Amino acid sequence: MKKTITPAEGKLGVLIPGLGAVGTTMIAGVVAINKGLAKPIGSVTQMGNIRLGKKTENRYPLMKDFVPLAKLNDIVFGGWDIYTDNVFEAAMNAKVLEPVLLHAVKPELELIKPMKAVFDASYIKNITGSNIKSAATKMQLANELMTDMELFQKNNGCSSLVVIWCGSTEKYMEVSAVHETIESFEEGLRNNDSAIAPSMIYAYAALKMGIPFANGAPNLTVDIPALECLAKLTETPIAGKDFKTGQTLMKTILAPGLQARALGVKGWFSTNILGNRDGLVLDDPDNFKTKEVSKLSVLEDIFQPEMSPELYGDMYHKVRINYYPPHGDNKESWDNIDIFGWLGYGMQIKINFLCRDSILAAPIVLDLALFMDLAKRAGMSGIQEWLSFYFKSPQTVPQLRPEHDVFKQLIKLQNTVRHMMGEDLISPLELDDFEENAHS
Ligand SMILES: NC(=O)c1ccc[n+]([C@@H]2O[C@H](COP(=O)([O-])OP(=O)(O)OC[C@H]3O[C@@H](n4cnc5c(N)ncnc54)[C@H](O)[C@@H]3O)[C@@H](O)[C@H]2O)c1
Repeated sequence: MKKTITPAEGKLGVLIPGLGAVGTTMIAGVVAINKGLAKPIGSVTQMGNIRLGKKTENRYPLMKDFVPLAKLNDIVFGGWDIYTDNVFEAAMNAKVLEPVLLHAVKPELELIKPMKAVFDASYIKNITGSNIKSAATKMQLANELMTDMELFQKNNGCSSLVVIWCGSTEKYMEVSAVHETIESFEEGLRNNDSAIAPSMIYAYAALKMGIPFANGAPNLTVDIPALECLAKLTETPIAGKDFKTGQTLMKTILAPGLQARALGVKGWFSTNILGNRDGLVLDDPDNFKTKEVSKLSVLEDIFQPEMSPELYGDMYHKVRINYYPPHGDNKESWDNIDIFGWLGYGMQIKINFLCRDSILAAPIVLDLALFMDLAKRAGMSGIQEWLSFYFKSPQTVPQLRPEHDVFKQLIKLQNTVRHMMGEDLISPLELDDFEENAHS
């Protein structure tokens, strides 16, 4: 049965804490696409097809023509940053997109000026800025963010908002007592508890107002019981964490194939050089640790060494990130994979991916904004596990193993939208098609 989905009417405000390389590349891209200057390549909502019904029916609409998503023309952008640069200046500084393209959208981008950020240098070293709120308590900061969101919605005539964290990676933290319940979290906000990071304050503010929140960085942020409960209470969708781009995307494409063929893996060494501001922040060991934990979890899950100890029990997995300014946003990654096959004979795979980090991340931000808004209109709240497809460390309900295999993640995403729209789910087995053919 089709779910009741409120139509996407009016304007959708997409608010981004962290108007850096990823955020500005996404915004400039959408403006350029709306002007007919470029195509939304890499966006599953805009360019991906979804199969409906039986194979023989030949129904493959574009995702955006199948589900009632907000239109790109109806999006209004805003955000916060510790720097005062408007989105045009920030995009020029990020050096991801060509100046020619940015100048073609300059008037629109210049209008987007960052609101004052909630920031604390003890969570993110290596950067400083002046566009920062000051208040006596973290609760007051949360209230100021709520006022920002309210005003943005009013001034821009938005019918709905979503918040997508594109801010820098905060230092490594684990779930602690203050994160356990809404009450302890709110007490912590009033007492300036050091276990409450700025990203959590944004998330709290959004959730209190029923605004969907997705986290593109590997910080805990909404991945704590208190905010999961708040999301349920205010009927708000949440998702995270850490956009799946670059090297990890390649891993989750390749590893399921090796595992499918029962090939063994002895070692997987991954190293990266990148020279953008993200790389600078990750040059600090505390911030790198957050990223490392996120990147390492992927292979364990796909290979499941406890089920296949002879194939993956001794796998050595190492991830390095090195800050190398000359490369800018054009991250280069190398993977050396030691695999073994029939009778234990060894082989090697080498991958050298010259990627553009923010070019891979921007369509993810757009898709998440549209899908999170859809989820809200469809009455779906709490963790949106069907959006795992977009994340390196998918947030799941406790006790549920996160799924990392990109193909299984896509099936889950597509089946969720089929379900929302009252279409038959498609199982990879396609037994019905097979039986029909066998009988005909
Ligand atoms: N580019 C990718 O492929 C990719 C993939 C996965 C995750 N990420 C994550 O996305 C985030 C953004 O990446 P980026 O390349 O755009 O980095 P960036 O350094 O260019 O931009 C981050 C921006 O966040 C701002 N910021 C930091 N703390 C803030 C706060 N408390 N409030 C508001 N603004 C704040 C910084 O001033 C900066 O402008 C990083 O956490 C990164 O790890 C990026």
